[in-house]
Amino acid sequence: MEKTLRGRCEAHGQGHVFRFWGTLNAEERGRLLEQLAQVEFPLMERLAREWILETPPPARFERIEPVPVLPAAVHRGEGAPEAWDAGEAALRAGKVGLFLVAGGQGTRLGFPGPKGCYPIGPLTGKTLFQYHAEKLLNLRRRFGCALPWYIMVSAANEAATRAYFAENGHFGLGAENVVFLRQRMVPCMDGAGRFMLEAPGSLAMNPNGHGGCIPAMVENGVLDDARARGVEMLSYFQVDNWAVKVADPYFIGWHALKGAEMSSKVHRKNTAREAVGVHCLCDGVYQVIEYSELDIYPQLLETDAAGNVRYFAGNPAMHILSVEFVQGVFNRFDRFPWHLARKKIPFVNDAGELVKPDTPNGCKFETFVFDALQLVRHAPVAVEIGRLGEYTPTKQFEGDNSVVASRQSMAEWWGGWFNAAGAAVPRDAGGRVAVPLEVSPLFALTRDEFVEKAAGRVWDLSRGLSVDADGNTETPAAPSA
Ligand code: UTP
Repeated sequence: MEKTLRGRCEAHGQGHVFRFWGTLNAEERGRLLEQLAQVEFPLMERLAREWILETPPPARFERIEPVPVLPAAVHRGEGAPEAWDAGEAALRAGKVGLFLVAGGQGTRLGFPGPKGCYPIGPLTGKTLFQYHAEKLLNLRRRFGCALPWYIMVSAANEAATRAYFAENGHFGLGAENVVFLRQRMVPCMDGAGRFMLEAPGSLAMNPNGHGGCIPAMVENGVLDDARARGVEMLSYFQVDNWAVKVADPYFIGWHALKGAEMSSKVHRKNTAREAVGVHCLCDGVYQVIEYSELDIYPQLLETDAAGNVRYFAGNPAMHILSVEFVQGVFNRFDRFPWHLARKKIPFVNDAGELVKPDTPNGCKFETFVFDALQLVRHAPVAVEIGRLGEYTPTKQFEGDNSVVASRQSMAEWWGGWFNAAGAAVPRDAGGRVAVPLEVSPLFALTRDEFVEKAAGRVWDLSRGLSVDADGNTETPAAPSA
């Protein structure tokens, strides 16, 4: 094993990763060999050549057009009842599975553990994983389906994620219905395309991006598992969005009615420069243009006379993927695009000392799931969503897309439900809900369900309130005098 891998490294100009071999113990040697055995050397060589040693010309499109977007469910547009019916029928027939990507490193949040274990609930301390699990349980109850849950993890967080689910009894979902799959890691490279070591016996590696779910599904037997269960489509979502409507019948229904291979939700961008990818037709091909490329295509910054962004279809990373489409993309995965990010990557120098750089010193390569949209044969479906109650990702502690913003969005979203149920919701001078609120998705998943169950109840929201699965409430303690 050592000889083969050493030879492979040398043949691809990466022999330096063995430079501390003589100082490593058996365990460290085993780890390094295990990492190297996973590396796709020809791929890494190609990426180094195309992205690091040469500068790739930016893709240039002659013609960019906005994508057609179906109206949000609240607008009850043409075809909406049929979409709801088709989605509910697919759920009842067990044709839907959930697919969660939770393999990222969560560097911006800086939480010491898998991001899904972050206690996002301001009163209950409920984690992101628990919020997702409770929604799933509610849907199961409502539609009488199994809804298997596939969770993509990476070497960075697999053990901790599995342990967390085991400690919590898989939230009552049944261990057989929660299927973990591990995505691949790829080596980080320095400015000369050389692999980096994070320790004398360990490569610096990163998960291969959320697009890594495509090979991971095939290589970990998820597609076979889905087929065996009769699952035909996967509701894809990200771990850090507490508000996501998992397996949304309206969305599933449009996907099914249109015979789509991959569908997406889109949200209206707040401003032309908002840091999100945009769904567009580029020379007739449906794709997502990244935020970092906005200046290459100035038309993406256009607004109309009323100030509305013309290319408004922001990407909240919610998709439906048909099982057979994933197989087809996997068969062509050698042509799947990669993306480079220059990052600060701690590394060991030639003296074997760990260096933590202050400025970007290396490259991480990732694939993005939305690039699969370029490979569809039938036009993809895009369905508009409102952000409140559907999209508030948690990327960092404060500021935009933060823990603080997520908790405020909980208060606003559930505040609307309490209002609809006749409760007085405390608000500040600016009209923002002024107390923390939480409602277990097991008690109610929709406003209608909440209002029905809340009938005849009196709620005291003066200090904030959490409602558990059975409708019991808890109020934060009064501040001590
Ligand atoms: P982000 O791009 O926000 O990355 O991932 P992140 O790891 O959560 O956070 P940063 O950028 O390091 O601060 C969006 C979603 O994609 C998943 C993440 O777990 C998250 O649900 N993801 C990302 C993966 O599953 N694998 C990856 O390789 C990258």
